[in-house]
Amino acid sequence: MKRLVVAGRREPAPAVSAFTDGSPVDGCDPGFSEAVIHWQKKHGRHGLPWQNTRDAYRIWLSEIMLQQTQVAAVIPYYERFLKRFPDVESLASAPAEDVMAHWSGLGYYSRARNLHQCAQRVVTEFGGRFPDDAETLADLPGIGRSTAAAIAAFAYGRRAAILDGNVKRVFARVFGVDGYPGDKPVENLLWQRAVALLPVMGVEAYTQGLMDLGATLCSRSKPGCAACPLADRCAALQAGRVDELPMRKPKKSIPEKQATMLVVIDRNQVLLQQRPPRGIWGGLLSLPEITCEVTDHELAFAQTLAPFGVVKAAERLPGFSHTFTHFKLHVMPYRVTLSRRLHVAGQSDHVWYQAGALAAAPLPAPVKKLLLSLFT
Ligand code: ADE
Repeated sequence: MKRLVVAGRREPAPAVSAFTDGSPVDGCDPGFSEAVIHWQKKHGRHGLPWQNTRDAYRIWLSEIMLQQTQVAAVIPYYERFLKRFPDVESLASAPAEDVMAHWSGLGYYSRARNLHQCAQRVVTEFGGRFPDDAETLADLPGIGRSTAAAIAAFAYGRRAAILDGNVKRVFARVFGVDGYPGDKPVENLLWQRAVALLPVMGVEAYTQGLMDLGATLCSRSKPGCAACPLADRCAALQAGRVDELPMRKPKKSIPEKQATMLVVIDRNQVLLQQRPPRGIWGGLLSLPEITCEVTDHELAFAQTLAPFGVVKAAERLPGFSHTFTHFKLHVMPYRVTLSRRLHVAGQSDHVWYQAGALAAAPLPAPVKKLLLSLFT
């Protein structure tokens, strides 16, 4: 195939792969990329420290730092890092602690470990030159499909599609894509769009334009639709669904459990029980509980409280719920009165606690709230 010559520069021949778009695909719309490129040239970002270079090392470093961190936070780290590690060889041969020290404060430290390993592989397997195709790049540590495409586009002018979080938002809105973009089928659909929309020329400005649009005008809240170059083709804008798209991560349904708690009050004291060291509310004091499966509550109360006295009456108190990370607990509290309080002999994880000291007691917050409401 003849290579295209654009303004004196040789454009690499479009390659067909999972990462690139070698031929027109359904959904191809040259107007889309033209609008993005035109807008990027006029209104996009042009002076970022990793722009205006074809140095794959610098571009790779910036893309890794930008994976979970905003541009403004990355810039000082990027510059300090480059001073200490000016090329892939100096990074590959540096001690891991030195690399970590220069990453310290950026967070997500697996990125730094992968970065170091990636530099070593580029040196040993590729002679210090980053591969120029997205597929090979994506095989290296810490480089996912979208990062690989960004490096291939910015460093080598390769036609490869990106799809980071910001770009997903742009596509979900413009094409009115329902569903959570983190779900595989939705993500696959967005990838198909991303590949089909790649322009034949100007992939660098197009890629940067998508990133810039996603980071500026097409923000999650208060997007600047009036200035958006894609407003006239934006399905979300036309349907009044900009705030709704992309759809948020659905809340996971979590298991629900029941617990019956006994509030045993006697002579201005309340009976508390130390919880086991592990599990929910580990090591805190709490109310004695009975297993929720019991059908005969009276019998269960009498048996559980037998070491502490004889049960005279039990009265249902208003219930409450508490959500933990992995389940929701519904608590049914009962106020129990004893007709005779027994002396507790020997070691016990139970304790009669002075009501006046409850406010400072090591109790789970909802249990403390319940007890304080009964004593005030
Ligand atoms: N986010 C990810 N890559 C970026 C880039 N090259 N410029 C600005 N923001 C980015």
